[in-house]
Amino acid sequence: MKYGYFDGDNKEYVITKPNTPAPWANYLGSPEYGAIISNNAGGYSFVKSGANGRIIRYRFNSTPADQPGRYIYIRDREMADYWSASWQPVGKDLSEYESECRHGTAYTAMKSKYKGIETDTLYYVPLDKTYEVWRLKVTNQDERPRKLSLFGYVEFTNDANYEQDTVNLQYTQFISKTYFRENMILQAINEHVSEVGGGASGLSDEAGEGIWRFFGVQGAEVNRYDGDRDIFVGDYRGYQNPASVEQGACTNTLNYNGNSCGALQIDVELAPGETKEIVFLLGAYGEADARQILGRYETLTVVEEELQELKSYWHSKLDRFQVQTPDDNFNQMVNVWNAYQCFITFIWSRAASFQYCGLRNGLGYRDTVQDIQGIMHLEPELARERLTLMLSAQVSNGGGLPLVKFDHRPGHEGTPDDPDYARETGHPFYRADDALWLFPTTIRYLKESGNWAYVDEVIPFSDQGEGTVYEHLRRAIQFSIDRLGEHGMPVGLHADWNDALRLGAHGESLFVAFQLYLALGVYKEIAAHKQDDAQVHWAEQLRAALGDNIQKHAWEGDRFVRGFTEDGYVVGSRENEEASLWLNPQTWSILSGFAEPEQARTAMDLVYEQLNTEYGAMLFYPPFKKFGLPVARMALFNGTTKENAGIFSQPQGWLIQAETMLGRGNRAYQYFTEINPAAMNDKAEIRKIEPYVHGQSIEGIDSPFFGRGHVHWLTGTASTVMVSLAEGIMGVQPTFDGLRLDPCIPSTWSEFSMYREFRSKRLRIKVENPNHVEKGVAKVMLNGEELEGNLLPDDRLRENNDVLVLMG
Ligand code: GLC
Repeated sequence: MKYGYFDGDNKEYVITKPNTPAPWANYLGSPEYGAIISNNAGGYSFVKSGANGRIIRYRFNSTPADQPGRYIYIRDREMADYWSASWQPVGKDLSEYESECRHGTAYTAMKSKYKGIETDTLYYVPLDKTYEVWRLKVTNQDERPRKLSLFGYVEFTNDANYEQDTVNLQYTQFISKTYFRENMILQAINEHVSEVGGGASGLSDEAGEGIWRFFGVQGAEVNRYDGDRDIFVGDYRGYQNPASVEQGACTNTLNYNGNSCGALQIDVELAPGETKEIVFLLGAYGEADARQILGRYETLTVVEEELQELKSYWHSKLDRFQVQTPDDNFNQMVNVWNAYQCFITFIWSRAASFQYCGLRNGLGYRDTVQDIQGIMHLEPELARERLTLMLSAQVSNGGGLPLVKFDHRPGHEGTPDDPDYARETGHPFYRADDALWLFPTTIRYLKESGNWAYVDEVIPFSDQGEGTVYEHLRRAIQFSIDRLGEHGMPVGLHADWNDALRLGAHGESLFVAFQLYLALGVYKEIAAHKQDDAQVHWAEQLRAALGDNIQKHAWEGDRFVRGFTEDGYVVGSRENEEASLWLNPQTWSILSGFAEPEQARTAMDLVYEQLNTEYGAMLFYPPFKKFGLPVARMALFNGTTKENAGIFSQPQGWLIQAETMLGRGNRAYQYFTEINPAAMNDKAEIRKIEPYVHGQSIEGIDSPFFGRGHVHWLTGTASTVMVSLAEGIMGVQPTFDGLRLDPCIPSTWSEFSMYREFRSKRLRIKVENPNHVEKGVAKVMLNGEELEGNLLPDDRLRENNDVLVLMG
């Protein structure tokens, strides 16, 4: 079943049936002021931190689903009927109520039509601002005048800390009050306590005391208001039928020792054809600041200007890489949604969604370093800034801090070995993989930007000392080399990429072995470029020794195993009853540059036979049921779910990429199509989550809900799949010396084109495939001249370039 469509021209996803099988969300704002909003206006907002700066409530995982949110109710005073500007929460019968929701780049627009009244609501956070705007236009399409009451509504948290707000009611119920002051509800928390104002959460204060929020309106006079949620909603009622709306009048009641809300009632009379436009504003400010913000919207055209500003800000980023292939579902993802999701994961990490409730209060090392890769081709300098931060969160022993706090202080942080760090972050152990992610990310930055000087930039370590980027990389290798196991491969520590695999201080991880193999290759490449022969030699020797060990201990003739436990059990061995074939070691044997071509093909064919499904490849099979803790922690999950043999989404990117490295474009494309959210647009009842973004995992074949997706938006899938599409299938591969073009496509494609910016140069690339090959470049023309090979040398690029690639 289908609930909407892609509007590529406007870079929007348009939901035409509002009763989607899950709330389909979008992100607004920035880390300074963040907001998440569903197609039914459910969602929440926060200042700086979803955990400590929560402004409005959202009840996670609740029934009725997806409540509350940013609600606008409309009541017809003559008919005594009411509805909402988003389909929910009132939820009028869809035979009478029409709606359309457009999720765009950092804004969401909703239209409704009900009994002759049309509404058009726009939600956004203006660029570089720390409050949100809801612009409402109401139009009377009827032939007679209509008397309407409009109610804007938010439910405030009583405590900026989300957990306290939810559970510590004997305290939080007694600290919050509301006030009505000319067109706005103000909420105060701890209003007499000067220490609370401002503070770490960044919530603004009024005269230096307490925490203050406002919900106000511009463009109309408020007739009545409520500041007490329980009065507005009424006893034994819900958001579908709040008492104040149903009765047609807010009660002018303010909160004292209950739950604060902002409800503003505006009565209007509209002649036939007339439109009324008003703007609701919400933020964490006291009255003086709020007045100023409201003042900015006296001229309502400001809204259109701000919207245009947002669009051009986002579109100009996305426009740096655009493709036109024969597959529109592919194009939508590369051009808009996968790219936008990469920015969203880059910005929000795993902090705030409808599943991440805000308590992951920092940047996970591996997640963040990987997320950086997703935006590399679009904004390399932003990528560099974050990469520098992550290098500064590398401990001087070479390992990564498992969690990088939002207020990370390079040079002054504890390590997982320090009780304070462990207590504060909840992470008392190193992961084996964390710092090794720096290699694929750093090399991508160097090759994308051409900023070779970065290698020598000096960056502090998280605990003490400093070193060049080059030195940071060397220490990351050293961290692994200092922790090798019995077979000469890195030990698994608390986790490798797989959070549910605990191989400990003695068991070994093949995943990390391949990561290290890749790292040594990257390091050697950088050392060679620096003409540092001693380091080239160092890396070469380590790489050769590691390679020998992998070949000797980890290859079983048709597959690579996954690891060794400390008591000698081989995880992922063909002899095992459970989990006898794993996806990641096969794909990483190729990504790392280790596998011989024959080995690679054999292993990948086995993956195709045994792990692939119509919705992507499972992480391994069969799932764990008997072998479990303490090593295989995934046994905690139901079979073929998440890390226990689910179709984990992030590794699908590695799978696609690995197939392109083998030159098998048909298979790479098939794997992508299986997990392409857009390709599931007409099977939304199976996938459930948004058809425009990847989720963390999909349920595998043993589940009665095979194909159902989970944990929307914030997942490393965005970056791995983006890389596999851009570098792998489209074959646009930056090198130190220029841009290599080496597409690996389905043989059915006879041509496609791309626009790419590279080191500030613009390239229009046309690829022709008359012989229907999957890979191979016969000829490349750059600005009318034939090149030798398929590398566009940096020094031959002009400002604007026309490139023709002939495959064959
Ligand atoms: C989650 C975590 C990520 C981990 C993956 C596999 O997505 O955020 O860090 O690599 O699970 O366990």
